[in-house]
Amino acid sequence: MKTIDELLAAGVSGKRVFVRADLNVPLASGTITDDGRIRAVLPTVKALADAGAKVVVASHLGRPKGAPDPAFSLAPAASRLGELLGSAVAFATDTVGQSARETVAGLTDGHVAVLENLRFNPGETSKDDAERGAFADLLAELADVYVGDGFGAVHRKHASVFDLPARLPHYAGYLIATEVGVLKKLTDDVERPYVVALGGAKVSDKLAVIDELIGKADRLLIGGGMAYTFLKAQGHEVGISLLQEDQVPVVTEYLERAEKQGVELVLPVDVVVAREFPDLKAQAPTEHAVVDADMIPADQEGLDIGPRTRELYASKLADARTVFWNGPMGVFEHPDYAEGTKAVAQALVDSNGFTVVGGGDSAAAVRTLGFDENAFGHISTGGGASLEYLEGKTLPGLAALED
Ligand code: 3PG
Repeated sequence: MKTIDELLAAGVSGKRVFVRADLNVPLASGTITDDGRIRAVLPTVKALADAGAKVVVASHLGRPKGAPDPAFSLAPAASRLGELLGSAVAFATDTVGQSARETVAGLTDGHVAVLENLRFNPGETSKDDAERGAFADLLAELADVYVGDGFGAVHRKHASVFDLPARLPHYAGYLIATEVGVLKKLTDDVERPYVVALGGAKVSDKLAVIDELIGKADRLLIGGGMAYTFLKAQGHEVGISLLQEDQVPVVTEYLERAEKQGVELVLPVDVVVAREFPDLKAQAPTEHAVVDADMIPADQEGLDIGPRTRELYASKLADARTVFWNGPMGVFEHPDYAEGTKAVAQALVDSNGFTVVGGGDSAAAVRTLGFDENAFGHISTGGGASLEYLEGKTLPGLAALED
């Protein structure tokens, strides 16, 4: 994989460089609530601009349906990028139309433009190779060189991620190089004990990675909404907690296999339950209680791991030499159910091992709960991407940068 350093060494002054970033940031009423992904691409954008390139930044945001939708505009991300760069950033109000062509044509050396959300064009995400290729052809007209730096989207076989690099000289940006370097440490020659904490709502999203990790990790700590499918598989009733009943047989097989292979698969011993899911907007105190994991009342749902589980998980993380954490332990967006996620984050902060936070909600949780980002070994910008890497899958956006 050629990296941006080789491109810079060859000289980029006056060249139009297309940077595929992942500016898919969380927004609340048009305001960015976590700009981590924008900050993560700054080194690449800055280096190119400083070297005199005309930098064309493109990304998706959310999942619009292949047509313009103001709720998913990249305009707020473009203005935040300008603030962070400390210089004006031009914004094209379309992806490959008149505005994009004029904006790029108007760029002077060392300046940056952002295109509108790539997913406003159906060609970006199309399953049809020809449709994606046609969109990639139009994007290719806007640039001389391609730099892939949208790590969070490398698991997507999308036009700007997979087809466009085949049409232009291509290089990996600093973010992708860093992310891949970190994930390699987790897969090749990992330092042990290797402990993985997995949370999040859906067990089905994590099945493949759990399957892979049973052979690789020493301990797997399970929390979040998906823990209830595991508790059910152990024969416990889970009340009205999140449950993927159809996954119970798969999870049962994992529990058996983990035991046979001597991998500790650790489940909550107590949980915080409530009759209702909390109102995240109001943030008002809720009625809740702590119960043993095998005593969840029929009319209540588990919304966080309990205090004994927090201590248990912290103790299982204490001697780890390598930690990977993906997915919150509970509904961390509400203070009554944030303690489990906080406890796991704190255990990573206290760890002397190499700690990796695997993107998405857990990365946002670390920042919104007020942890110092520098206290972690690495905070990945890719949730799905880092999981698929650990599953051992070939990621289209990395494969496209290989040759
Ligand atoms: C993410 O948020 O994980 C990436 O930006 C990819 O987004 P997607 O899941 O909508 O493809």
